[in-house]
Amino acid sequence: MSSTKNIKKTTIQTFINKKAKGEKITVLTAYDYFIAKLLDEAGIDSILVGDSASNVIHGYKNTLPISMEVMLAHTAAVARGSQRALIIADMPFLSFQPSLETAIYNAGRFLKESNAEAVKIEGGIEMVPTIKRIIECGIPVMGHLGLTPQSIHRFGGPKVQGRKEKSRSYLMESALALEAAGCFAMVLELMEASVAKEITAALKTTATIGIGAGVDCDGQVLVINDMLGLREEGFEPKFLREYANLTPLISEAIKMYIADVKNKKFPDEDESY
Ligand code: KIV
Repeated sequence: MSSTKNIKKTTIQTFINKKAKGEKITVLTAYDYFIAKLLDEAGIDSILVGDSASNVIHGYKNTLPISMEVMLAHTAAVARGSQRALIIADMPFLSFQPSLETAIYNAGRFLKESNAEAVKIEGGIEMVPTIKRIIECGIPVMGHLGLTPQSIHRFGGPKVQGRKEKSRSYLMESALALEAAGCFAMVLELMEASVAKEITAALKTTATIGIGAGVDCDGQVLVINDMLGLREEGFEPKFLREYANLTPLISEAIKMYIADVKNKKFPDEDESY
C-alpha cells in the first residue's frame, strides 16, 4: 500500500477554496529536503522556495545574484521532502524579465526539472502579459506586490509601500490586473495593512499571502530562517515574529562538540566499534 494514500494534497484550488471559506492559508519558505519534510509533516499548506535563499542560504546581501540553476536545485530538494504542501518556486532575477520566451521556458523548467507546482513572479500590472502567457502554458502563477526585493535598488531600500495615494492606487490596480490575468494567489510584502485589507476584500478568487502586510490577508508567509532565529544580528523587521531562537542552541552544540573532541570525550566506548 502506498504511504501517500491518505494524504490530502494541497493544490491551487485549495487556496481558492480557503479564501472563499475565510480559512487562513499558511506558507513558509524552505530551501532543503529536511526542513521541507518538517514543514510538510507539521501541516503547512504551501512551501515557497523563495529567492530569499540568496540571502539566508548563500549569504548574499540581496536576492539579485541567485541563479536559475541554484533555484532549481533548492526546489527539487524541497519537492523531494514534501508530499502534501503546494510547492511554489520563486523565479529569480532575470529569469523572466528579458522576454516572454525566457519567462515561459524558465517557469516550465521549475515544473519539468524540479517538481514545483507553481511559480512566483515579482511585479505589478507591467508583468501581466508575461504572467498571462505562463498561465496559458498551464503553469500556475503566484504574483508578488508591494516591496518586491528584486527591485530593491529602485525602491532605495526596504520601504513600506502604499503610504501615498499614487502607490495605493498602483497596488490596487496591479492586484486587480494580476487576478484578471489568472494568478491563483499573490504575496503582499511590506505594505500598509489598510491597503492589504482593501486588496484582499477586492479580490474575488485570488488569495493574498502577506508578509509585513497586516492580519487581514488571506494567509501569511515568513522566511523560515528568520522565524527560527537563524538570522543576521541587527536584522529585526517589525513584522517578524521569532517563533524559536535556534542560534544559541546550535552555537552551544557546536562548542560542546569542539570541547569534547579536544578533551577526548567524543567518541566514547559506546560510540566506537
Ligand atoms: O523570497 C522569498 O522568501 C519571498 C517571501 C519573502 C515572500 O519572496
